[in-house]
Order: sequence, then C-alpha cells, then structure tokens
Amino acid sequence: MSAVQVFGTTFQNPILLAAGTAGFGRELDHVIDLDLLGGIVTKAVTPEPRQGHPALRVAEFRGGMLNAVGLANPGLEAVVEHELPWLAQRLRRARIIVNVAGATVADYVGVVERLTPFDAITAFEINASCPNTSAGGLEFGAEPGCLAELVGACRRVSTRPLTVKLSPVLPDIPAMARVARDAGAEAVTLVNTMPGLLDKRLGNGSGGLSGPALLPIGVLATRRVREQVGMPVIGVGGVRSVSDAREYLGAGASLVAIGTAALADPRLPVRIARELSRG
Ligand SMILES: Cc1cc2nc3c(=O)[nH]c(=O)nc-3n(C[C@H](O)[C@H](O)[C@H](O)COP(=O)(O)O)c2cc1C
Repeated sequence: MSAVQVFGTTFQNPILLAAGTAGFGRELDHVIDLDLLGGIVTKAVTPEPRQGHPALRVAEFRGGMLNAVGLANPGLEAVVEHELPWLAQRLRRARIIVNVAGATVADYVGVVERLTPFDAITAFEINASCPNTSAGGLEFGAEPGCLAELVGACRRVSTRPLTVKLSPVLPDIPAMARVARDAGAEAVTLVNTMPGLLDKRLGNGSGGLSGPALLPIGVLATRRVREQVGMPVIGVGGVRSVSDAREYLGAGASLVAIGTAALADPRLPVRIARELSRG
C-alpha cells in the first residue's frame, strides 16, 4: 500500500492511532517508532483541563471493551505548551490530527482557533459525539442544525482541514456526513464508540463500546458514506489485523485508525502499516 493523499497532504501509509487511545504520543515513544505510522490522532482537547470520570474507567467483555474515560486531558494551554511542541519535534513523516471536544460550540471554536497557527497540525477531528449542554445534552452530531452550527463555526476560525467524527448510532449517517460537508468539513471519521452498559462495571455507569464488535458497523458506515456522499472517510472501529484494515480500505476509507487493539498491543499499528505496504 503506497502513500495516501488526504487533506491536501501525503500520509506515508493509511494507519493512524485513534483518538484517546494513544494520548499525545509520549507514553508510546519508548515502545514504538511513531514516525512509522501514517499519523496520530491526539486525545480530545478541551479548553480547560479535565479529570475525567471516576474509576473504573474500562471494562472488558467478549465483544470488546466499554470505556468511560470522560475526555480526560490536560486542557488547551498545557497542550499548547507541552504536548504539541513535543509531538511536532518528534515526528518527521507521521501526521498529527488533533481531536477536539467540548460542551458548547464556543468550546470547540476556542480550541480550533488557538491551535490553528501550529503548522504541525494536518487537520482537526471534531468529536461531534459530545453532549451539547445548550441542547439539553443531545449530541452535537445527532441533529442537523446543531451539527451544521458546530462545523460552520469551526470552519470560520480555521484554515486547516476538518474531519467530523460521528456516532455509529445515528439513524442516517450519510445524511449527517452531508451536513458536515456542506458546513465546511473535508472528511468524516466513522465511527465513534457506541453507548453501552454493563451493571456496576464502570464508575460512570454507562460507557462507550469499542473493539471487535464495532468492525462491521464502521465498515458499513464507511461504505454508505462513500457511496452516497463521496467525501473522504477515516475508518475506525474494531481493527485488529491487516485484513480488518483492508475491510475499511475496501469500503472506501482513505485512512484507518486503530484504538482498542493498540491498547492491548501497542506494536500492532506499525505492524499493520508494514504489512499493508507489502501489498
Ligand atoms: C479509552 C478510549 C478513549 C477514547 N477517547 C476518545 C477521544 O478522546 N475522542 C474521540 O473522538 N474518540 C475517543 N475514543 C474512540 C476511539 O477513537 C475510536 O473511535 C473507538 O474506540 C473505536 O475504535 P477501536 O474499536 O479501534 O477502539 C476513545 C476510545 C477509547 C477506547
């Protein structure tokens, strides 16, 4: 598999580390060579530092994992001061995509606006699965008007490409992808985790399901958006092997992100990238 052109730039291969599962790269630096990847999607960045949800934060089950991390992150200023400079000097070839989260449109806009001058950032991934406090907690990505407002507001403050990350439980994912595109997004990331509950297994109560059970769900969402909307897709959900990655690429994804499987085996994404390049 040769290099991939997306967001007006070249990714040396299509494999990314998925948002929230690799932090800002530091923890993995002594384990893998991050620069062998297509890129890294950072943990969500919010305006203020977030402690996240109480323990327990992850629970395994046979189909994968539930997590209730709660977007724990050091906050925008610490990311500007410490995380991005480190990542930018560490990476020569792998691309940086910054995942952005918030409770209001202004939260997202503040993060995107502040980070846009960083040349090292290839694109922003707008996590549209966060509850919108101004809309009674309904996810931004669940309602066309809210999604258009969010993406349009980010578009107006940034020249960088945007990819909008959508939930797998939306009734019409292609329709919401079209809304994102019409509001100025270059791509969509499909899919985020799926809401789930296992009794007394997480500090927060419910959580987000990731891992193997998401694979066919993400592949279908990718295929439908490619067929019906035609915009670029970052495929994510359940990838554990090179053949899983090929499922997304075959469905039309330009890039493929790996999360849960890389938590168990941090060397897996580089191995998959290498196997893909062997053809
Ligand atoms: C522990 C954990 C933390 C996550 N944090 C984020 C996040 O900060 N922002 C986001 O958009 N997605 C986040 N996700 C979702 C992943 O990026 C990915 O969409 C999902 O886990 C499906 O991929 P996978 O099956 O390969 O893990 C997180 C997932 C996990 C397991």
